[in-house]
Amino acid sequence: MSDRRGRTGSRLPTTIDTTKPHEARFYDYWLGGVDNYPADRALGDEIAAHVPTIRSMVRHNRGFLGRAVRYAIAELGITQFLDIGTGLPTARNTHEVAQEVDPAARIVYVDKDPLVLAHARALMASTREGKTAFIHADLHDPETILADPVLADTLDLSQPVAITLTMIMMYFRDSDNPHGIIGRLLDAVPSGSSLTLSHPTADFNAAATEQAVQACEHAGITMVPRTRAEIERLFTGTELVEPGVVTLEDWHPELAEEPRFEVESSAGPAWIWAGVGRKP
Ligand SMILES: C[S@@+](CC[C@H](N)C(=O)[O-])C[C@H]1O[C@@H](n2cnc3c(N)ncnc32)[C@H](O)[C@@H]1O
Repeated sequence: MSDRRGRTGSRLPTTIDTTKPHEARFYDYWLGGVDNYPADRALGDEIAAHVPTIRSMVRHNRGFLGRAVRYAIAELGITQFLDIGTGLPTARNTHEVAQEVDPAARIVYVDKDPLVLAHARALMASTREGKTAFIHADLHDPETILADPVLADTLDLSQPVAITLTMIMMYFRDSDNPHGIIGRLLDAVPSGSSLTLSHPTADFNAAATEQAVQACEHAGITMVPRTRAEIERLFTGTELVEPGVVTLEDWHPELAEEPRFEVESSAGPAWIWAGVGRKP
């Protein structure tokens, strides 16, 4: 697999290796998408054997993302989004939800995966009034994202931005300095901006989660579940909006739109904590 280096030397893949599972693609598989290969489906099935309701959990995550976008516009007055760890365009994406509510909404997507890059045109569809753009970058190197001219061309960084980090920070070990990375992003946006974050946890079933972690690690994919308290600390520099860090389905369920995906109602709580914080 070829790669290019970010400003701090981090590896940024530029070609797609279908022989190894990739996090964007087995997540796409769970969501019922078509951008996945046998290696992705094999790992997706292996994880699902340990966590049988994983498909419901990722659907709940997409529901949370949509509600958080609507909340940012309606309650926080934010119409600019920096969505890092975009994923494949299987489910309704940030710009679709945002521009439905406010056609002038502006969105910058960031992902390190070349397959997501290949779909960037679909992601960059926009309303006439709004704007949608894509940066191919690795969040380990936030300066690359902040220095990319696409960011300043698309977003007005003197106005509040909703930084969106859903289901991505579990790929960062503590030694990768996730707090420093999030802090750097928050430093770049003004007061009134927000942080939307969802993150898997072992709090509900430590044994099953550990087996899923092992399956990922064997496939060369970092997976760090965090406790609710650890995930609350990722919001440092913001004030959590009500109801704080809760399971996905408990975060402002009243903002839900018609479900696009079937979610097993008997699945129990998703093993994913989620919340939104506002930069004071
Ligand atoms: C599980 S998907 C989540 C997609 C979407 N945010 C959601 O919540 O549905 C994780 C995405 O993050 C991307 N990703 C993982 N690590 C990354 C990094 N260091 N920098 C940028 N993108 C990353 C993957 O390529 C993948 O598209």
